[in-house]
Amino acid sequence: GTTKHYKFDIKMRSVTRLCQTKNIVTVNGQFPGPTITAREGDRVIVKVVNHVQYNVSIHWHGVRQLRSGWADGPAYITQCPIQTGQSYVYNFTITGQRGTLFWHAHISWLRVTLYGPLVILPRRGVPYPFPQPYKEIPIVFGEWWKADTETIVNQALQTGGAPNISEAYTVNGLPGPLYNCSAKDTFKLKVKPGKTYLLRLINAALNNELFFSIANHTLTVVEADAVYVKPFKTDVVLITPGQTTNVLLKTKNHHPNATYLMAARPYATGPASFDNSTTAGILEYHTPSNKIMKINKLPLLKPQLPVFNDTTFATRFSKKLRSLANSKFPAKVPQKVDRRFLFTVGLGLNPCSNPNKTCQGPNNTMLAATVNNVSFLMPNKAMLQAHYFNQSRGVYTTDFPTNPPFKFNYTGNPPNNTFITSGTKVVALPFNTSVELVMQDTSIIGAESHPLHLHGFNFFVLGQGFGNFNPNNDPVKFNLVDPAERNTVGVPSGGWVAIRFLADNPGVWFMHCHLEVHTSWGLRMAWIVMDGKHRNQKLPPPPSDLPKC
Ligand code: C2O
Ligand code: CU
Repeated sequence: GTTKHYKFDIKMRSVTRLCQTKNIVTVNGQFPGPTITAREGDRVIVKVVNHVQYNVSIHWHGVRQLRSGWADGPAYITQCPIQTGQSYVYNFTITGQRGTLFWHAHISWLRVTLYGPLVILPRRGVPYPFPQPYKEIPIVFGEWWKADTETIVNQALQTGGAPNISEAYTVNGLPGPLYNCSAKDTFKLKVKPGKTYLLRLINAALNNELFFSIANHTLTVVEADAVYVKPFKTDVVLITPGQTTNVLLKTKNHHPNATYLMAARPYATGPASFDNSTTAGILEYHTPSNKIMKINKLPLLKPQLPVFNDTTFATRFSKKLRSLANSKFPAKVPQKVDRRFLFTVGLGLNPCSNPNKTCQGPNNTMLAATVNNVSFLMPNKAMLQAHYFNQSRGVYTTDFPTNPPFKFNYTGNPPNNTFITSGTKVVALPFNTSVELVMQDTSIIGAESHPLHLHGFNFFVLGQGFGNFNPNNDPVKFNLVDPAERNTVGVPSGGWVAIRFLADNPGVWFMHCHLEVHTSWGLRMAWIVMDGKHRNQKLPPPPSDLPKC
């Protein structure tokens, strides 16, 4: 492979959306941020220079970071933040992966404006296992708030209540024509008839899973989270924050007398309020050169999107995702299991800690979120350094509960005591442990789907179901042949999902809900994977410019 160099200057820029201007944090003044393009096997070197008044760190979401955990990016997990005026060089090699991923800030809620595509092409000369597309287009979904990021974060973390919802969803940073004062901020995709386009869908939104569809066009799903899948056709794609999905779009053979909306709006299951509005871009056919058509006069057709709580659709869609699992791209599903874990994921409550004694959670409490009833507290030192230098004291403890600390009907009536515990607790795993993990949603404050993301690994999605996981009946139905292999999976609302991964990557690996509000409330934990015996099974020493806390 070759080496790709990038420079990310983190700086402010004023941007106008929905007729309101605000200053946002950007990379190189671009919003959304620049696309990183590399090939499988390439080394990627990104120098990040922080010119803003906030601490910054950047995460390469879905990149496996084999023995390069120092470059993973989550603040206080693998590194201290890059402070104002400082810089850090992220240096990693893309091994055994090709497809669409993305990068985003991984500190506070800065990823609301700091994100961009990360495109990994196959090695030179290696074709896709599907028709070669005529063009490839990243389609990044985001959320736009009129308020500044600090205000939004404070609302979510200090009042104890639900966060303010965004004013708009966006396609490539643009809300589109269905919002007031936004028609000029519309992403337009100009296409030619009779061609195949590869759309690289990325959900970089903070708090919303999305349905996506293009009017009068069928999509073929070919890849999820940078892993090829068995192609299947669909009119609508479900994509959670943290997920990426490649779809083929075959344009109509003749120039149609219409333009088409490509639209996204939320799939939402939880009790919290959300914005049920629709973001849209426009699919516009090039005018044939022999006749000048009045594009503006053409009818604009809208797609049919499922209703916001269509869990039946969401379930059916998720179950269609299967690894390609052929001889060129085998699914390396761990067939034996060394350790089994059951994690409940869901919301819970903290007593009100506001000095003025009023909190906006139920009965004057503060909303919180947990894994196995533990709300994860961010340490104020980087865990990976603490681990590497054997200085974990006062930073984290290795007593994360491997099973729910008390049993109850997870998806039935909530228990009487909904209060939670907190701590910086991790699970430590010997090198090469084969892990089976069942994540069980709870209905303590209302069932809700949680897109769980694991750093440093892909995992296989063996099965999912509704109600409580049954360790006697459910595992016999696990798919060990061609399960979807990904880095982010939706734990079904009122249900469970079972995954497996091989802990072959030494380091400290964050796992969390990719709904930013749930992460902030504590729905996060970390795995520590110990070094193996051999030289290439050990985490190398930290780079000399690793930021200090
Ligand atoms: Cu895309 Cu830990 O995040
Ligand atoms: Cu969640």
